[in-house]
Amino acid sequence: MCGIMAYIGKKEAYPIIIDGLKKLEYRGYDSAGVAIMNGSLSLYKKQGKVTFLEDFTDGKKTNGNLAMGHTRWATHGIPSDYNAHPHTSQSGRLVMVHNGIIENYEFLKTLLKEKGFNFKSDTDSEVLVQFIEWYQVKYALTLKEAVRRALQDVEGTYAIVIMDTIAPNKIIVAKKENPLAIGLADDGFYIASDAGPMSKYTSEVIYLNDEEVGELNIDGSFSVIDLENNEIASIVTSISKSNDNYDKGSFDSYMLKEIFQQPDTIKNCISTRLDVANNNIDLKAVDEHKRLFKNTNRIIIVGCGTSWHAGLIGEYLIEALANVSVEVEYASEFRYRNPVINQNDIVIAISQSGETADTLAALKLANEKGAFTYSLVNTPESTIARHSDSVSYIKAGVEIGVASTKAFTGQVTLLTMLAIKLAIIKETINPSEVQKYIKAIHQLPTLVEGALKTKNVIKKIVKKLSNNNNALFLGRGLNFPVALEGALKLKEISYIHAEGYPAAEMKHGPIALIDENMPVFILATNDSALNKLVSNIQEIKSRKGIVVLIKNEDQIISKELADYVIEIPKVEEILCPIISSIPLQLISYYAAKFRGCNIDQPRNLAKSVTVE
Ligand code: F6R
Repeated sequence: MCGIMAYIGKKEAYPIIIDGLKKLEYRGYDSAGVAIMNGSLSLYKKQGKVTFLEDFTDGKKTNGNLAMGHTRWATHGIPSDYNAHPHTSQSGRLVMVHNGIIENYEFLKTLLKEKGFNFKSDTDSEVLVQFIEWYQVKYALTLKEAVRRALQDVEGTYAIVIMDTIAPNKIIVAKKENPLAIGLADDGFYIASDAGPMSKYTSEVIYLNDEEVGELNIDGSFSVIDLENNEIASIVTSISKSNDNYDKGSFDSYMLKEIFQQPDTIKNCISTRLDVANNNIDLKAVDEHKRLFKNTNRIIIVGCGTSWHAGLIGEYLIEALANVSVEVEYASEFRYRNPVINQNDIVIAISQSGETADTLAALKLANEKGAFTYSLVNTPESTIARHSDSVSYIKAGVEIGVASTKAFTGQVTLLTMLAIKLAIIKETINPSEVQKYIKAIHQLPTLVEGALKTKNVIKKIVKKLSNNNNALFLGRGLNFPVALEGALKLKEISYIHAEGYPAAEMKHGPIALIDENMPVFILATNDSALNKLVSNIQEIKSRKGIVVLIKNEDQIISKELADYVIEIPKVEEILCPIISSIPLQLISYYAAKFRGCNIDQPRNLAKSVTVE
């Protein structure tokens, strides 16, 4: 994982690096560091967030127009000052930041130790910079050539920025399987793990391809080669100037802000896609490949975490509406299990970041096996978007809180529209049903607004329950994946152990956990599952579980069955996962708040998981 930001040019580099690193903290926030070249090297590293680094450099020398920075998610070596990047080589001549994993680092480290190299950190990254120096010195190479040759012996993944303090007029960059974008501007080059941090400085970006090495000079010239030393004519991509707002506004956390943005983000997702006049859903990505979508009999959805949960909801909806068989796979399993992919199968990758390593690898595997690939992503120009045959954007805007909220409801909204679209193409739905669903989706932003009004009720309930260390989330049908998502949200930000189950599965084991200390959150918002669910609630109540019932305003369920009730607006049943997930987001937010947890940056996690 980890985020990289670098600059070489005419401007003061340090503020650019710090600003960029803050935008890249979604990739990790265990430690941060910066190296600035200005006659001599100034190197600052600090465990913790970028703001800690900023405080640490206060009053110290930070001027210079060549610098690189890094925000880390620890893989090799604990989060600490000494494991923080940038790392320097044995002589101190080379300085480097790295995102990725050097798989043969132990072998290389042993080799280097035998040659007298010492190590100051536990990281695989330090091994790489030392190895590059060994090549450079032994064969008297330029840095670019040393990087190229060294990388031929490296197994693993990398995005690196490296400079030679003896020739501080250039930066060398390289990448394999971890993203690296180079922004071209009149004042210099901006280098970052994604184009976001540079979008306010330039609209021209080169995305380095795997096993390419770039040389960026302070005079504005640059060149790119591959590992075989062939010159590469890189493609310059236009990116739009970012209007994304990185402020929390009046909210105490990005997560809460993002929860409350959902009426707008859903509106954004649906506004150009609901074609009321023609009783249709406009999904360009599907329309452009209409025959393929019409003829497919099998869809495989791949994703991780929350995106995988969205995929499960997609499965229920697509099978029910379009009568297409759908399988949902954890991308990390799919990529390694030689899956059967038939002609006419479509593989859909779901990802907020568009950078998740396992999802990307699953997508590439599907491409290799000849499947048509379609991605549903939030981040424009992300790697997954660029590697898919077709893409639809979630349009939720930048999501900063580690716990995915608005991206999840965006994914589910998009999948709902996709299911209806497929049903239209496959003629498994009649026009009046389409009309009914389009009308319902149109009302969704207002209904989400209604669901957000549960905030104060939820705050009071969670205050009473936040000391419990376990929780269960139950749902049936379309609400089962929502229960999984509710449990994931709660555990990731409040560190309460939580599990999601299909309600009927309780008696096959988990019911043994029920006692007076176990809060059970029950999603009853889908009427078609209600009668069966009521029996499941009774089973829990009679074992003294604490029942928190989430129901529609107009559902009549005996109040005796529940200790607490949260009422949300009624929606068309196919939309209930979206509305049901709103109170669950608020439950986890308040649980984390009452327990004094870091809501936006929970321990051990990163927003974008770019290592497998
Ligand atoms: C949980 C969460 C993660 C992500 C997962 C996949 O709140 O955000 O589980 O959903 O890491 O990330 P993307 O969607 O970026 O591929």
